[in-house]
Amino acid sequence: MKTLVLTAHPDLGKSRINRLWFDALSDAESVTTRDLTTIGGATFTFDIEAEQALLLAHDRIVFQFPFYWYSAPPVLKAWMDQVLSYGFAYGPGGHKLAGREFLTLVSTGGPADSYHAGGYNNYAMDEFLKPFQQTANLTGMTYLRPFVAHGMAVADAAKLEATVPDMLAHLTDPALDPKIKQARINKALAEDPSKAAAVS
Ligand SMILES: Cc1cc2nc3c(=O)[nH]c(=O)nc-3n(C[C@H](O)[C@H](O)[C@H](O)COP(=O)(O)O)c2cc1C
Repeated sequence: MKTLVLTAHPDLGKSRINRLWFDALSDAESVTTRDLTTIGGATFTFDIEAEQALLLAHDRIVFQFPFYWYSAPPVLKAWMDQVLSYGFAYGPGGHKLAGREFLTLVSTGGPADSYHAGGYNNYAMDEFLKPFQQTANLTGMTYLRPFVAHGMAVADAAKLEATVPDMLAHLTDPALDPKIKQARINKALAEDPSKAAAVS
């Protein structure tokens, strides 16, 4: 499985957590990393054909970003507007991304308990990330569970480092597709029906 990580941070040189993730992913096998801010330059201009060819050469597409005003930094939106074009990602004949997998890798400043009903951010990450989920749906990609690390603005170095193994395990897990997970549970149940109560 080949994974393409598109990193949208305004300045990775000043990042605490996304830089760590970017470096760890750059060293991982079968993972291609792209710093969109460096590639797009000051005008956020992308070589559309080159970007699309990269998408087609990978099985799993990852959008990596720090959460900014409940969304992604603008370079990612610019990349999406240019690269996910009519006739490529949607519209007549535009099913080139169909069958690929998609997920987001996100760091937040706010703590985990703020991202719930009744928390000061009120809504869960799954709700804030809906535009990305529907982008995957419309383009025919399988939406995978996001990896989110909370409280990163104030985390100490040990806490930042501690996210790296879990992040790598999640991003490189070949069985993140919910259909694969479900099939595994069903297989285990077929082999040992006594487990039914434990998984239902
Ligand atoms: C412009 C801006 C907007 C931000 N908006 C949010 C936000 O909406 N929610 C949140 O939890 N953190 C927010 N933060 C905090 C960042 O998400 C946090 O500092 C970041 O994930 C750390 O990533 P980095 O170390 O890679 O820069 C914001 C930070 C900045 C600079």
